[in-house]
Amino acid sequence: MSTTSSLFVTRLYQAALSEMGKPLDMVELEASCLSIAEDDEAGQTWCEANDYAGYTSYASLTDLPWRFSIFKDLVKVLDKHVAAFAKDVAFDLGDKKLKLDSLWINILPEGGIHTAHIHPHSVISGTTYVAMPEGTSAIKFEDPRLAMMMAAPGRRKDAPRKLQQFHYVAPQVGDVLLWESWLRHEVPMNMAEDDRISVSFNYAWG
Ligand SMILES: [Fe+2]
Repeated sequence: MSTTSSLFVTRLYQAALSEMGKPLDMVELEASCLSIAEDDEAGQTWCEANDYAGYTSYASLTDLPWRFSIFKDLVKVLDKHVAAFAKDVAFDLGDKKLKLDSLWINILPEGGIHTAHIHPHSVISGTTYVAMPEGTSAIKFEDPRLAMMMAAPGRRKDAPRKLQQFHYVAPQVGDVLLWESWLRHEVPMNMAEDDRISVSFNYAWG
């Protein structure tokens, strides 16, 4: 009898932040994201210079968890989720730890997109969702082996989820998604009138 196995699996972690650690006030987190964006002139200038629709603190603020206690609390919760995911993917961490490397705010207005990318220099990356207006974009993940499939047919629309080449995930406010940092992803155009607000982060091993 023949058998077919799944090899080289790509894992995607999704949970409510509240499943671990101290509960966070998402209303306060949203207000903090908005007020930081409003005050961060260097960040606004960077977004304008780089044709970035909306706001990201990525290039301008590197110390959110040290400056704002709500981000410090968020990191404590994220540490627990990341540890759970590292266990799920069976990382052998040896005597080194997974540590937060960077954490930044994204505010994507109507019409804004975030094109496909990976997160270099880190091991686990993820996003937690702060404001997800109705009709806003899901996050899209793509099969990391696409570049090797030049001559292969696409997959049927009814293919099992684990065999599909693209996945759209529409998280709820308060959810966290985690993936290995090499996994390419994008945020298609925000078609909602209101801002889509999220906080993304990278964990490095060392
Ligand atoms: Fe990303």
